[in-house]
Amino acid sequence: MEKAENSFIELPKPRKNIGDLQPYSAPLEGRRNLLRLDFNENTIGPSPLVIKSLRKISRDEISIYPEYSGLKEKVVETLIKQNSNVFINSSEVGIFNGVDAAINAIFHAYGDFNDLMLTTSPTFGYYTPCAQMRGMKINSIPYEGSDFQYPFDKIYKFVSQNNPKILLICNPNNPTGTRLKPERILEITKLSSKTLVVVDELYEAFTGDSVLPFVNFQKIPNLVVLRSLSKTAGLASLRIGFAIGNSKVIDIVKRVTGPYDVNSFAVIAAFAALEDQPYTDFYVNEVLEARKWIKVQLEKYHVKHHMEGGNYFLLWPKSNPKHVEQKLKSSGILIRNMDKKKNLKGSIRVSIGTIEQMTRFWSAFKIIDDV
Ligand SMILES: Cc1ncc(COP(=O)(O)O)c(C=O)c1O
Repeated sequence: MEKAENSFIELPKPRKNIGDLQPYSAPLEGRRNLLRLDFNENTIGPSPLVIKSLRKISRDEISIYPEYSGLKEKVVETLIKQNSNVFINSSEVGIFNGVDAAINAIFHAYGDFNDLMLTTSPTFGYYTPCAQMRGMKINSIPYEGSDFQYPFDKIYKFVSQNNPKILLICNPNNPTGTRLKPERILEITKLSSKTLVVVDELYEAFTGDSVLPFVNFQKIPNLVVLRSLSKTAGLASLRIGFAIGNSKVIDIVKRVTGPYDVNSFAVIAAFAALEDQPYTDFYVNEVLEARKWIKVQLEKYHVKHHMEGGNYFLLWPKSNPKHVEQKLKSSGILIRNMDKKKNLKGSIRVSIGTIEQMTRFWSAFKIIDDV
């Protein structure tokens, strides 16, 4: 006889915070062969040098554990080449399995049970689950006004009064594009040496607002800057990103990762992508041109939108965002529905690709939303 389904089996108990956790979820399946304007990825692919170096990978390379030597130095060299005021050395760079892994590691290393995490809302959705995993208390201060200004005075006051353990600043912010001047970030770092200020600069290539040219991490040890090769360089699937900060802080954060968390394919591709910075610059310029073009269309046709920093913008269609999302999808175009996000009711987020891709989006959107 078959045993009855055992609904009363007792499962091993996870930590309380994990049992209660709402994981970060993103609709990641079935995106191939569509025009992907939903995750702010590079929409044309990485440099040909990246593809060439991946094709050359030997059998040996696959069967041995990854090696990282020279990569941090390459990151430093690239950053200094981009801006000669950047003053960092390789011990101030940590390599991670994407910036997501760097964020998780920072919370793991610094966020204790009941510690405070301060951020803004709406912002990138992975900060909150990372804080929750550690049992941290979360305070998110909303962006201000219809143009989503950074709530600087409130953040300033909160940090001065409460010394949160971690402050997360997404600059420019995803999804509002809100920009914050590097000088203002430095003001915040001076408020409390107990607060680790983490600046997520994933989209800084589109604004040029990086705090890096203004810092000496020996003098400002409570600041960490995050950079990734996912978006501009087009390596999202390979997972590689960097945390840059005081060498002692980077050393602490690296202690909670595995020794080989970043794989050899990512390392080889990263060398090639960093070598071909002109390709990334070319792509960024292409996006900035496309941004100008789509902005002209939106203004001409009085379509409600908000576009500030980053390779994305918010748009409020006349019709239901879900309907627009579905209709665009049937035309082969993906966007992100933001209707359920706090303070973004009725909106969608559209990533910016090339002018040709934005033309395709615009032609479809005009019909769907009767513009
Ligand atoms: C603001 C922000 N930070 C971090 C990430 C994750 O980046 P990575 O692909 O390097 O893990 C994303 C990805 O969407 C993002 O938008």
